[in-house]
Amino acid sequence: MNIVLLGAPGAGKGTQAQMLVRDYGVAHISTGDLLRAAVKAGTKLGKQAKEYMDAGALVPDKLVIDLVKERLEEDDAKRGFILDGFPRNTAQAVSLDSELSSAGIELDGALLIDVASDVIVKRLSSRRTCRSCGYTAPAGTEKCPRCGGEMYQRDDDKPETIQHRLDTYQSQTAPLIEYYGGQDKLLKVDGDRPVDEVYADVKRELHLS
Ligand code: AP5
Ligand code: ZN
Repeated sequence: MNIVLLGAPGAGKGTQAQMLVRDYGVAHISTGDLLRAAVKAGTKLGKQAKEYMDAGALVPDKLVIDLVKERLEEDDAKRGFILDGFPRNTAQAVSLDSELSSAGIELDGALLIDVASDVIVKRLSSRRTCRSCGYTAPAGTEKCPRCGGEMYQRDDDKPETIQHRLDTYQSQTAPLIEYYGGQDKLLKVDGDRPVDEVYADVKRELHLS
């Protein structure tokens, strides 16, 4: 399984990816998680990325493309991967296509998790994230259900930044729906339903059940 997950911020890409990884053992490549880890570790990349992330803007393509390229070369990605949060604009999608084709890897599909923006704003403002492992859960969750770590609110989950992320999604990422439609690779699920129901549809679309 080699897939791209598409969807607005908060559509549930990370949530569905965590379940696919648990059940099928593929690599979860989340550029958001990789960038947050770089910020936390204080690397050069992290320092460059932080101001863009805090503002809800996209980190420059070159930085993200190099990061994904390296990650795709790791062993676990050879068993299959879920790209979560990448590509996020046409330039990144074109670069991914060329990277995969030179490695002889076929993308099975780009799965859009479709959720209306009013639902997104509610979800993101009440989301809490584990400081240690990145697990996400609704507000009110004190300790991470997966590792016991501390749950916190991401800086970009504050209301003023959420709106900017949604605008960025509409202008830069939504055009990828047409891009993958044109390649006959677009799959779609309604993401505004309980997590398990969305997951059942995800598996059906990916021919896993
Ligand atoms: P990133 O971390 O990728 O954030 P995002 O795309 O905005 O996605 P999220 O993680 O916010 O949402 P999600 O769809 O994974 O939803 P989740 O499952 O958590 O990117 C952050 C930043 O990094 C960007 O703004 C940018 O600056 C930078 N960046 C990253 N990639 C980049 C790239 N390629 N190029 C340039 N810059 C890049 O769910 C959300 C909440 O809803 C959770 O609380 C969850 O529990 C809940 N939930 C999930 N599903 C359901 C459901 N079905 N019903 C009810 N609640 C649900
Ligand atoms: Zn955790």
